[in-house]
Amino acid sequence: MVSKVFITGSTGYIGGQVLHDLLHNKDHQFEVTALVRNETKAKKLLERTNNGVKTVIGTLDDVSVIEEQVKKSDIVVNTADVDHVPSGEAIERALIGKKEQTILVHTSGTSIIGDELRKGKKPTTKVYYDDKSIDEINTLDHNQPHRPVDEIILRINEKNPNAKVVVVSPSAIFGVSDGYDKIISAQVPLLINLSVANKQAFSVYDGNYIWSHVHVKDLGELYMLLIDKLLKGESVPQGKKGYYFGSYVVDNEGPITEKPSPIEHFWSDVSAAVGKVLYENKMVSTPDVAQLEPEKIAQLASFDFAPSLWGTNSRSRANNGIKIGWKPKFTDPKYFWDGIRNDYEQMKKEGAFGK
Ligand SMILES: NC(=O)c1ccc[n+]([C@@H]2O[C@H](COP(=O)([O-])OP(=O)(O)OC[C@H]3O[C@@H](n4cnc5c(N)ncnc54)[C@H](OP(=O)(O)O)[C@@H]3O)[C@@H](O)[C@H]2O)c1
Repeated sequence: MVSKVFITGSTGYIGGQVLHDLLHNKDHQFEVTALVRNETKAKKLLERTNNGVKTVIGTLDDVSVIEEQVKKSDIVVNTADVDHVPSGEAIERALIGKKEQTILVHTSGTSIIGDELRKGKKPTTKVYYDDKSIDEINTLDHNQPHRPVDEIILRINEKNPNAKVVVVSPSAIFGVSDGYDKIISAQVPLLINLSVANKQAFSVYDGNYIWSHVHVKDLGELYMLLIDKLLKGESVPQGKKGYYFGSYVVDNEGPITEKPSPIEHFWSDVSAAVGKVLYENKMVSTPDVAQLEPEKIAQLASFDFAPSLWGTNSRSRANNGIKIGWKPKFTDPKYFWDGIRNDYEQMKKEGAFGK
């Protein structure tokens, strides 16, 4: 049987990996329609996928286009913008009105569990688990990043049980994706870029804040596993219980300390690694890391949320994914740390510096 998939964000980093994995899936056949913003993007996607997708032109603000596509599709994969409320509401409206069973895999992000930006704050020992912390996750403050759209998506299943809804909430994603247009991530590449602009690597205050991370190819496999299980009608956590962190777990993890576990990192260590790579490549004149105030970083990046990307703690464990059989391959810390140099090399190849 061929399943009709509607995907948003497939010219992006996450969406590109998911589209690649859909098109190369050995167990199921998918007929994919991708929302793209313009003809140029459509052409690029068609060329690079060997006409493997259909495209529909529109933005997330074209809510009637989104509703129409959701109504026509067996599976909806939303990876474009985790904070875009009108498109979340459009997906909700279309799914609530549908009699046919429809799978929705929505993307969120673990900034949702991030703490406040504050000088002198210690690394947190608070870890969120997507199974045993689920009540806390479902009652996070409305003002937390990504929460407004999560609230919309997570209530759909209660209004229409024919909608099989799951949320994938990735931590800091790393690795070069198999996608078709943008193939590197956000947090580390942006830190590299702004460090060049700053003429020195930097951290937010002392940078001793802990985040979990996940390789983009492992993440793609989590989307595929969820789609596979839901298509087969297997019972996996859905709706308000269907929250899947894109992060890793530690077998028999002992007490949580103020130090990162091997599946996590301190942003201060990332900043130091960025300083080293940039210094070795003569992009900056010192490997040292400057400690900057959030205001300065927001100014450098030209957006207010930027300091939160590297100035918060966000520790998550993907228990739900592991329970349904997800077997991530890139959990060894070396993949994350090598990823910083790989991002730099990819950015150089793309001519990202001096733009
Ligand atoms: N990367 C991470 O580590 C990470 C982790 C957790 C959550 N997230 C969140 O997940 C989402 C996707 O992340 P990403 O890293 O894949 O981003 P990305 O590489 O910038 O890709 C975004 C994709 O969405 C499309 N898009 C964005 N706004 C759109 C709009 N208004 N209308 C139509 N298409 C639109 C882009 O199209 P164009 O190609 O036309 O620009 C692109 O295809 C973001 O909201 C991000 O905050 C990212």
